[in-house]
This record gives sequence, C-alpha cells and structure tokens, in this order.
Amino acid sequence: MTRREKQVVRESFRSVGDVAEALALLFYGRLFEREPGLRSMFRGDIAAQGRKLMEMLAAVVENLDRAESMTPVLQAMGQRHAGYGVTDRHYDVVEEALLWALGQALEANFDAEARGAWRAVLGQVSAAMKEGAAMVPPPVLRT
Ligand code: HEM
Repeated sequence: MTRREKQVVRESFRSVGDVAEALALLFYGRLFEREPGLRSMFRGDIAAQGRKLMEMLAAVVENLDRAESMTPVLQAMGQRHAGYGVTDRHYDVVEEALLWALGQALEANFDAEARGAWRAVLGQVSAAMKEGAAMVPPPVLRT
C-alpha cells in the first residue's frame, strides 16, 4: 500500500470513532441480507462479535507501517475461520459488505480514494487469512 493509502485509511478509521459498533451491526445486516446462509455460522452475540471485528481492524490500521507484524496474527485467525466453516469465496462477500458499511458510516467522506485504500487493506487482510486457512492440516482419513 502507498503512504497516501495508509494515511487515508488511518484518517477514515479515526472518523468512524464512536459509530464503530453501529458500523459493525450495519455490516452484519448487509452480510446476512446478501448471504442468509452465513447467519447460522455465528453462534455468539452479534454485537460482541462486531466489537471483536472492529478491534481487529483497529489493530490492522494501527500497524499499517509494519504490516508483517500482523501476518502471523491474521494467518492464525484465518485458520480459526476455516474451522468456523469459512471458505475463500466468503472473503469477497465480507469485503464488499464492509466497504458498504464504511460508506454508510462515513457518507461523503468515503470517497473513491478512501474506498480504494480500504479495498487494498481488506485485500491484504483476506490474503493473509486465506494463507492461514490453507495451512490447516487436512483431516485424518479413516479407512
Ligand atoms: C476481513 C476479514 C475478517 C476479519 C478481520 C474477521 C474478524 C473476526 C474476529 C476478530 C473474530 C473473533 C474470533 C477469532 O478471532 O477467531 C471473528 C469470528 C468469526 N468470523 Fe470473522 N473476520 C473476517 C472474515 C470473515 C469471513 C469472510 C467470514 C465468513 C462468513 C467470517 C465469519 C466469522 C465467524 C463465523 C466467526 C465466529 C463467530 C462466533 O463464534 O459466533 N469472518 N472474525
């Protein structure tokens, strides 16, 4: 990511501020509208889940200048996600729903540049998570 993209992501995430929880709820609403089948994967309280998601995004945004420090964290998270039943295809749906929710929260401040910068950061996150998922050892086959 370019310096400018990182700066745009940091600034826009800062302006999400107080509405982070609402943004997360908007995100899940959109996600389940798009893919109702995903709802049953989420076993816990969705507001609590939203806080975890936003905390993880905050860590990613904080570490944009040392993205490699997040790689093992994201890979491990991708492994856990494979265990929840998440497949590579789901990452596109999640990215789109997140971009949409950011747009709802930031309104005019979420311009084409901000959208592009967020697309880049989410693409990196998903790539590392998918790498982690691919590291999951295959289940032992019983004959
Ligand atoms: C941008 C990429 C994503 C981020 C940053 C993210 C973040 C998180 C975090 C922080 C958790 C808490 C538990 C853990 O760390 O393992 C979590 C759980 C979960 N995520 Fe994600 N996630 C992402 C993508 C996805 C995708 C693509 C799906 C597919 C639908 C998904 C479905 C779930 C489910 C089902 C749980 C468990 C919920 C529960 O136990 O109730 N996530 N996610």
